[in-house]
Amino acid sequence: MMTVNMFSRFVVVLCVVVAARVSYAVRHEFEIVTHLNRLNKPSMKSIKSPDGDIIDCVHISQQAAFEHPSLKNHKIQMRPSYHPEGNNFESMKVSSQNHQTITQLWHSNGKCEKGTIPIRRTKKEDILRASSIKKYGKKSSLHTVAQPNSVDLDLINQSGHQHAIAYVEGEFYGVKATMNVWDPQIQQSNEFSLSQIWLLGGSFASDLNSIEAGWQVSPDLYGDNNTRFFTYWTSDAYQATGCYNLLCSGFVQINNEIALGASISPISKYHGSQYDISVLIWKVCS
Ligand SMILES: *[C@@H]1O[C@H](CO)[C@@H](O)[C@H](O)[C@H]1NC(C)=O
Ligand SMILES: *[C@@H]1O[C@H](CO)[C@@H](O)[C@H](O)[C@H]1NC(C)=O
Repeated sequence: MMTVNMFSRFVVVLCVVVAARVSYAVRHEFEIVTHLNRLNKPSMKSIKSPDGDIIDCVHISQQAAFEHPSLKNHKIQMRPSYHPEGNNFESMKVSSQNHQTITQLWHSNGKCEKGTIPIRRTKKEDILRASSIKKYGKKSSLHTVAQPNSVDLDLINQSGHQHAIAYVEGEFYGVKATMNVWDPQIQQSNEFSLSQIWLLGGSFASDLNSIEAGWQVSPDLYGDNNTRFFTYWTSDAYQATGCYNLLCSGFVQINNEIALGASISPISKYHGSQYDISVLIWKVCS
């Protein structure tokens, strides 16, 4: 009699634990699906890229940008109201300096019509690789480098994070960089490699504003070792605001040819053709 009683108690306790686990799993699954629905907007057309990505052509007004409180009644500006001297907006085509067209892999399977923008579809696995749903698409503090100090070209090695920076300080209204595109080997999945232009304003301690763009290889973020075009922004020193690409609201895209976070092709080869991307970021005085 005694033993049966104990056994039934054990079963009850076990059931409670299992039920708690199941409800956590259901809630987590629900949160992932909700987040995926927030990022992956209904599309006019979807293009399957040879690298496994799906590129959704989403109507320009449907992008996540406008969910940002500051962009509630934003009127999309299809052309900048101002452009830097010597840079004709119409001729700013997606091409490398020696006029060999640099494209993205998904272009081989289609394009997005005018009035839509290409968005790399986020998969459930992409979110599962992040340490949490909230952290998906954001830099971890480890990836945020400290402000360089006095010299013009710094070689910095912080806990295995090595980088070289060339920089200037002053009052600027625009910056431009041309970067040779490579596919550096990654040794382990939490490693990444990149080349970027990085604009900073404010102070690291509090209100740092940053706009970044370039190419990166980041298995953690994308699930493979491909070289991808990326952007990043933050308005509070990488704390609550900002993200890579279109992975949060705030960045308005108008271009229908470039998908943020999509693979670049072709890539430079030793003793072979060289490919580069030019990024121009400027402040539109309105
Ligand atoms: C950079 O730092 C890591 C870890 O602190 C160390 O293992 C590595 O040897 C350093 N690399 C260089 C080039 O100093
Ligand atoms: C990325 O490259 C590393 C090392 O070269 C390899 O071990 C890994 O399997 C690759 N990852 C993917 C997703 O292809």
